[in-house]
Amino acid sequence: MNRLISASVKTLKGQTSVPGDKSISHRALMIGGVAVGPTTIHGLLMGEDVLRTARALEEMGVKIDRVTNNLWRVYGVGVGGLKEPTNVLDLGNSGTGARLLMGLVATNPINVQMTGDESLRTRPMGRISTPLSEMGAQVIARDGDTMPLTVLGARMPTPIEYKLPVPSAQIKSAVLLAGLSAPGQTRIIETRPSRDHTELMLRHFGAHLAITNEETGGRIITLTGQPELEGQEVVVPGDPSSAAFPIVAALLIRGSELTINNVGLNPLRTGLFSTLREMGAKIEISNPREQAGEPVADLIVHSSQLRGITVPAERVPSMIDEYPILAVAATAAIGQTRMRGLAELRVKESNRLAAITDGLTACGANIKIDGDDLIVNGSPDRIPGGVLIESRMDHRIAMSFLVLGMNSKKPIEIDDARHIDTSFPNFTGFMNKLGAKIIKPGQK
Ligand code: S3P
Repeated sequence: MNRLISASVKTLKGQTSVPGDKSISHRALMIGGVAVGPTTIHGLLMGEDVLRTARALEEMGVKIDRVTNNLWRVYGVGVGGLKEPTNVLDLGNSGTGARLLMGLVATNPINVQMTGDESLRTRPMGRISTPLSEMGAQVIARDGDTMPLTVLGARMPTPIEYKLPVPSAQIKSAVLLAGLSAPGQTRIIETRPSRDHTELMLRHFGAHLAITNEETGGRIITLTGQPELEGQEVVVPGDPSSAAFPIVAALLIRGSELTINNVGLNPLRTGLFSTLREMGAKIEISNPREQAGEPVADLIVHSSQLRGITVPAERVPSMIDEYPILAVAATAAIGQTRMRGLAELRVKESNRLAAITDGLTACGANIKIDGDDLIVNGSPDRIPGGVLIESRMDHRIAMSFLVLGMNSKKPIEIDDARHIDTSFPNFTGFMNKLGAKIIKPGQK
């Protein structure tokens, strides 16, 4: 266990950048891994989740060189060229790594065993096995469709048309990656668009994808199978989901001013920033530009008095990982914030609806769950804090409560900070450099 205590802070100030985008990093490794010729990746997230994906790909014959921390090179084996791993692939805490890899291997004539940590072993995998079985793979999992599991890759894969039962980029990506080794066209119908990094990156590597936007707001994505993917140069932007933590901290702590350079602003990821601005946050977007097909910009944040709003369910896919930190922000807003349609939060790295509600209640905030909605009655008075919070093997729960501690009357302690490294290595050092006071118990 690795406890941390976060105490109240006068102001946060500085100019910085956050680690690379987790979603894009997984995809760069996986798609680079099945391309032909070298792929060079700049700014890969060196988080535990991504390192697990790299190790899994190496087990299947992909050569990966860490030239420097900032520059990685992947020598792909070509579409359909993955070899059967000798060992069980352990994806640790990573739902994205596990689910996307299930798709990537499912249409290769290999059998792959996968497992993960205690958190990942509780997460639903049936949502991935169902479409993959339609494509000819067989997935043998524990009762309840959980890991450990074995994927018996399809010997004669067939492309499918699949309507996503939940707006999930992980399901979409698993089917698209499986579609790479299937002949013909694999089609996804999504009623609410989710992050499109897989589509953008497949195109970047030379795959043919037709994407149509429906009048209803949905999308149809058609991938032509068995493409010749060519190794590429990939530049990974800073992760907006990681930037969310220092941004909310700076908004809440009076007198703060922060510049975060090089943040990915893919419109399917920016729901939190729109929401915070609607709540009255001063977040300026400076120097917008495009990097390897993804929009990026520098963000300048000034502390702001927030006001409660209703966040519509339609916005969930574009800020799915940001609700824990939004709930923290909402505790300091004037009035009520209602976040609608959060059923998916129950099956993340932890049951986030429960983790947020229990944790914030213990800290003295006014919060309740109403069906699938979360309701926070905020106040500009700082909340009491002074408690120990269980992080539940969930990096975003851990970071959210450390941010709350920076603006609460008494310090907030988290019981286990180890999982923060899955997405934001050296979070403590990063925040302390800006003025935070996050320490180990007993440390001066
Ligand atoms: C991710 C998609 C999201 C998100 C996860 C990363 C991805 O999951 O919660 O952290 O990289 O595709 P769902 O799309 O399944 O909600």
